[in-house]
Formats: sequence, C-alpha cells, structure tokens
Amino acid sequence: MAPIDGSLPTLRWGVIGTGLISSWFTKDITAPRKSPKAKHIIQAIGSSSLEKGNAFVTEHLPSLTPQPTIYAGYEGVYNDPNVDIIYIGTPHGLHKTQCLAAIAAGKHILCEKAFALNATEAREILSAAAEKGTFIMEAMWTRFHPLVSTLHQVLHKENAIGDIRRTFCDFGLDMNLSSLPSNSRLKDPSMGAGSLLDIGIYALTWGLLTLDPDSHSGDSKEKEKPQITATQTLKDGIDISSSFLLHYPSTGRQGILTCTTEARTPEVFMKIEGTDGYILIEGVAASAPRSFTVYPKIGSDSGSTGGKEEGNKYEFELEGMGFYFEADAVAVSISHGERENPVMSHGETVRVLEILDVIRRQGGARFPQEDEA
Ligand SMILES: NC(=O)c1ccc[n+]([C@@H]2O[C@H](COP(=O)([O-])OP(=O)(O)OC[C@H]3O[C@@H](n4cnc5c(N)ncnc54)[C@H](OP(=O)(O)O)[C@@H]3O)[C@@H](O)[C@H]2O)c1
Repeated sequence: MAPIDGSLPTLRWGVIGTGLISSWFTKDITAPRKSPKAKHIIQAIGSSSLEKGNAFVTEHLPSLTPQPTIYAGYEGVYNDPNVDIIYIGTPHGLHKTQCLAAIAAGKHILCEKAFALNATEAREILSAAAEKGTFIMEAMWTRFHPLVSTLHQVLHKENAIGDIRRTFCDFGLDMNLSSLPSNSRLKDPSMGAGSLLDIGIYALTWGLLTLDPDSHSGDSKEKEKPQITATQTLKDGIDISSSFLLHYPSTGRQGILTCTTEARTPEVFMKIEGTDGYILIEGVAASAPRSFTVYPKIGSDSGSTGGKEEGNKYEFELEGMGFYFEADAVAVSISHGERENPVMSHGETVRVLEILDVIRRQGGARFPQEDEA
C-alpha cells in the first residue's frame, strides 16, 4: 500500500559492489531533486574489504547523514534487518549467486543489467523470488527515462512517422581492452565479459522498444518473437563486436543493431525509419538518451535540400544522470505491494536474455559456466 500519511515511499538500500555503477547509482538517487517520487536511503554498503567500502563512502557519499553501515563482504548486507532492498552493482557473472543469496535473506532486489549470463539463470532467479514473494527487477534504467515513454507515444500512438519499418542502433565504447588486466570484468569470460551483455543489450532494448509496441509494457500476453541473424568478432574468448538483425515476420520490420568495445558511437546513436518520416535519437550514449527529433520523409524531389528538412525536436533535461527514475519506480512498486514493475517486467528480462542467447549461439561467445552446466 502507498503510505497513507502522504509521505513518499521510502527504501533503505543495501549496495553490494563498490565499482563504477554503484558510485553513479548511489550519488544520483540521493542527490536533492525538485519533485522526487520516492526517498532513498543508502543504509549499507558491502565490499570486498572494509577499506574499499570506507573509501567508496568518503569519495562518493561524504555528506550522507547518517552514514551507511560498511560491511566486509556481502553477507552482512543481505542479513542487515534495516535493509529493504539490495542493489547489485557487481559483474553479471556474479548476479545469479548474489540474487539467490539476497532472496534467501528475504530482500527485494534491483540487479544491474545484464540481469544474468543467460535466460536459464534468469528463470532460476525469478522463480526463487516468486517463491519467496520478494520484488525483483533488472536495472535497465534507460527504459524508465521519460524520453522512452514520450517516444512510445510519438511512435506507436501518434504514428508520427507512419508505419515503422526499420530501426538502426549502435552502442560503441572505446574500452581500450589491451590496457586492462585479464581479471577485469570487461575481459574475464566468467564475469560475462564482452560487448553484447555490457552494451549490446541497450541496442537490443531500443530495437524491441521501437519495433514492438508491446515491449514497453508488462502485458503478459505472448509477444512476437523476432527472427535473429547475428555475427560476433571474438578475441580471447569474448566478443569485441556484435552485430545482429531482428526481423518481425508479421510486419516485416527490421532492427539493425550493433555494439563494439573498439570505437565510440557519435551522439546520434539511433535512427528509426517509417513510411512517413524518420526519427534520430541523440545522447551521451545509447544508455543515456537526451533528445530525439522527428523528421518528415525525405521526398524523391528533395535533391536541393539534401533531405535536411526541419525536424520537431523533443529535449529532456535531467537533474542528474537519471538513475532515480528506475529507483523511484521500484520504491513506488514496492509500496504498492507489487513483485515486479511493468516497465521492466520479468517476462521482458527473460525475453531479452533469450535473444542474447541466440545471438551468442550464432556468434560463438560462450561463458565458462555454460560449459560446466
Ligand atoms: N546501468 C548502467 O549504466 C551501467 C553502467 C556500468 C555498468 N553497469 C553494470 O553494472 C555491473 C558492474 O559494472 P561496473 O562497471 O560498475 O564494474 P566495476 O567498476 O568493475 O565494479 C564492479 C564491482 O563489483 C565487485 N566485484 C566483486 N567481485 C568482482 C570480480 N570478480 N571482478 C570485478 N568486480 C567484482 C567489486 O566491488 P567490491 O570490491 O567493492 O566488492 C567491483 O568494484 C555490470 O553488470 C555492468 O553491466 C551498468
């Protein structure tokens, strides 16, 4: 139930892992905002060492009052009675074990993407959470960005570019892998390393959201399964580039989706083509969109303009990075007694991993845990 005194839903977070994403997430959800929909307290931090946990708080959360409890290891966080929800900010190869441990302790969970290494792991986690009755969600924060719901309206309700035909999306980062140690999560196959699960998952998400109107809601009806054609470039057992096509037989729509760790994508990371026009989406990266522009169809007589017609631009100014959209949604869902959130539903998490599994089967990337299974 929502609080009856009108106060905001409040969550006490226990964070495990003190790497990059945990620093972004905790700073963003605790920063002051104009109209928050929920209140977030960083109650506890679990790290491989007390020193690292303390250094994380000193560097990233120095002004939090009260200061979080720091645990050496993650068990203390799972078992802390003052923690409502565990935020899992560790590499994907660890998510299954950590989700199962947090569920066993009766905690709700927000688990970073990729939710697990494959669909089999995801199903195991979700069925454990269902049995225990805890809330769990994949932290695919981009789905909660207000740009996504506006785009959904413009594309699928207003049909601003007519019938959608193709989506192109690229997520590339120059990760300079040769400079990283072999135990980096970005190089270690047992941690789920590779461009596909790290950033290709966003390209896939954009493909699903724009080609399939049902992808934006937790509607439990059976969603159409696109046909997949994929190729991957592998180096030292991980994919450094993945390219994949989605094809929807019922509509003929296609997604041309790519990711790489070898080069950074420019600001315009995506194009959606329709029968009456096209849309370009810009942002810091495909995970962090900032605006989209709707253009009319480039006519066959537009030789003189080169197709550079004026577009209708939708801009989205955020107060921080935008992790609070997903965190607020989780708090509201939990306050209503829900076990999943429709914007990143359990079914959609599994569907995304099923498609990533097919891409890897065709492309060749495997994780050692899959050979042991
Ligand atoms: N949503 C987003 O925009 C976004 C952005 C980046 C990453 N991510 C996701 O967040 C997860 C973590 O990514 P990250 O970039 O934050 O990684 P990272 O900087 O390497 O941090 C991961 C943390 O996990 C803990 N850890 C435990 N065992 C580890 C192991 N064997 N190898 C490496 N770390 C280990 C460590 O924390 P302690 O030593 O404190 O225990 C480490 O600092 C990944 O699943 C990734 O896909 C999401």
